[in-house]
Amino acid sequence: MNATRPDSEAARLTDWQRGLREQFPIITAHPDLVYFDSAATAQKPRSVLEAVQSYLTTSNANAGRGTYPWANRTTQLVERTRHRVKEFLGDPDPQRSTVHFTGGTTEGLRAVARDWLTSFLREGDEILVPFADHQANLDPWLEAQRLLADQGTDVRIRALPYQAVSGDYDHRELERVVGLRTRFVAATHLHHVYGGDMNVHRIRAAVGPDVPICLDAAQSVGHLPLSVAPSALDVDFVVFSGHKALALPGTGVLWARNARGPIFEPGGWQGTPNTVGIASLEAALDWLDAAGVERIARWTVALATRLTDRLRGSASYEILGCQASLAAGSGQPLQQRRHGIVSFRHRDIPSDDLGFILFSEGFMVRADNLCQAGADEKRDGSVRVSLHVYNTEDEVERLLAVLTSLD
Ligand code: ALA
Repeated sequence: MNATRPDSEAARLTDWQRGLREQFPIITAHPDLVYFDSAATAQKPRSVLEAVQSYLTTSNANAGRGTYPWANRTTQLVERTRHRVKEFLGDPDPQRSTVHFTGGTTEGLRAVARDWLTSFLREGDEILVPFADHQANLDPWLEAQRLLADQGTDVRIRALPYQAVSGDYDHRELERVVGLRTRFVAATHLHHVYGGDMNVHRIRAAVGPDVPICLDAAQSVGHLPLSVAPSALDVDFVVFSGHKALALPGTGVLWARNARGPIFEPGGWQGTPNTVGIASLEAALDWLDAAGVERIARWTVALATRLTDRLRGSASYEILGCQASLAAGSGQPLQQRRHGIVSFRHRDIPSDDLGFILFSEGFMVRADNLCQAGADEKRDGSVRVSLHVYNTEDEVERLLAVLTSLD
């Protein structure tokens, strides 16, 4: 009896995935191509495309500015989606928190830096920021430091420490870096190169209850469960891109808890919001909730595990980041856990060449320095396979067949 249970569980998961994959028209229309670049942008399910079409053909108007039905419906859409984001994030205090729509993660992080951090910091304060994550999660903090210096306020930037092999933050070292003047931390939930969950809950433990933390959740929303309940992730800002979470490009979210420091207020005059993007975001969050983010995580972790475990056996490939593909929930909190991103290098073939070779076989991957802060295009280039729920075991096997033929 017991021996058959895992198989039937796996079969159920496979059937569930097949039903979801069929909902992505661009995927089913191109059976010879394999999309492995979801960390750059994700494909859209039919319900998102329909929501866009429906909005543009029934209600398209500006938000918060008109009194006729299309405008009212658009205003309601924007307000409803704000609430939907809070609900999706498990927000325990939606009366206090705010959701600001942006053009994407880069714009959202810059807004936290310019519109909030610069008025929060005082002379001599220190902030901790990541120097080996996405460039978009470094530049805004350096810019905030420059803006403050121009006003005569000097603040110190310190680097979050990393573990050498796993790419996780070095949480033991972190305790030594945190000091009495530490006033803010910027961190990443899921690393866009290493694929690892960066264990941000351990940063809260290191900095104590009063220091605001800004979370770049570009790679995690829609890929792994994310709850901002203080018992889960007690962070103060969550910033993500809609387009990586199955919504349209040019859509992003900045969620602010507003419990530590001033209330987040976007600077400057707020123009017309991206209402069609917001319509797509509402549909995308509905789709993700219905599909089940926890199951999406299980699926992509299983595919990533298959890929890393087999590539690790080859002397020709170096896998970046977490070496042990521990399944989510493996009960080993001190180790880095890989989700659906696997980056690697071939010993002899430059990564950009490998990217072209893979596309000649139908695989769409990203192959460059992946916009990693501090990374050099030539020296640090890698090939990144980033997975979503529409990817299959068969696609991973086909990729492995090509990669191992280059051994
Ligand atoms: N942040 C995106 C990526 O990692 C663009 O590909």
